[in-house]
Amino acid sequence: MRPHDIKTKIFLDSGDPDETRQVLDLLGFLDGQTTNPSLIAKKLTGKTKKFTRDELLAGYKHIVQEVASLLPQGSVSIEVYADHQTSADEMARQAREMFAWIPNGHIKFPTTSAGLAAAEMFIKEGGRVNMTLVFSQEQAAAVYAATLGAKKGDVFISPFIGRLDDRGEDGMSLIKNIIEMYKTGDSHVEVLVASVRSLDHFTQSLGLGADIITSPLKILKEWADSKFSKESAGGGNKLQTIPYQEISLEKNWHNYIITHELTTVGVQKFADDWNKLL
Ligand code: E4P
Repeated sequence: MRPHDIKTKIFLDSGDPDETRQVLDLLGFLDGQTTNPSLIAKKLTGKTKKFTRDELLAGYKHIVQEVASLLPQGSVSIEVYADHQTSADEMARQAREMFAWIPNGHIKFPTTSAGLAAAEMFIKEGGRVNMTLVFSQEQAAAVYAATLGAKKGDVFISPFIGRLDDRGEDGMSLIKNIIEMYKTGDSHVEVLVASVRSLDHFTQSLGLGADIITSPLKILKEWADSKFSKESAGGGNKLQTIPYQEISLEKNWHNYIITHELTTVGVQKFADDWNKLL
């Protein structure tokens, strides 16, 4: 049973159904799970030396279907394969195929021009999306504008806080800024805190009232050990606060600054981890 005072949905960040089972035992509830190409590749590595593209996709489908059967009321995020050459049409094609795997999927697209164009198409067709590799408030504004008209629950945005922390920027301040900016909109985008590295990230996200947190098993164990604490340990970190920007949500999404160097690096890393298995 979820603690009655926790409104934020709790997801597991993992490509492993065994971990889904462990979390269900540990917490007694789980609202969803996020996967990505690196997490799935980690799970599939070692099974066989190399895969064909079809075998790899079948492996992903198998994992996702097992997780979805464990979380019939939850959401399971499935990520399209994208490198820097992948077109919007190709991402949308993959999305249609993956969306049919399970009844409760959200399709992850990278927050690039092609990814946003694919998401815009897919939302218009009645799909659900999770826009991933978000590192800036401008990108969050573009996600909002590209998915306008979608209903609440159909669009998640995944800002990656740990990867910002890794380079000295306070990822948590980006979450705060996006939540603040979205107050000026219609609330159709849910903020899903991703790239969580510590219990402090987790409890701070609860404190900010994030819609969703996705967290590795290790942190969920620490949270259970803390008796489901909502208190952040606080304490000054040396990270640089990302300042809030006044950004209107009313522009056409093409008119926001969509590129971010960490998104570029992140797309490449997901593609490389996937291609290593081929
Ligand atoms: C989940 O949706 C993200 O893909 C994941 O949290 C990324 O985490 P990482 O930055 O630790 O790889």
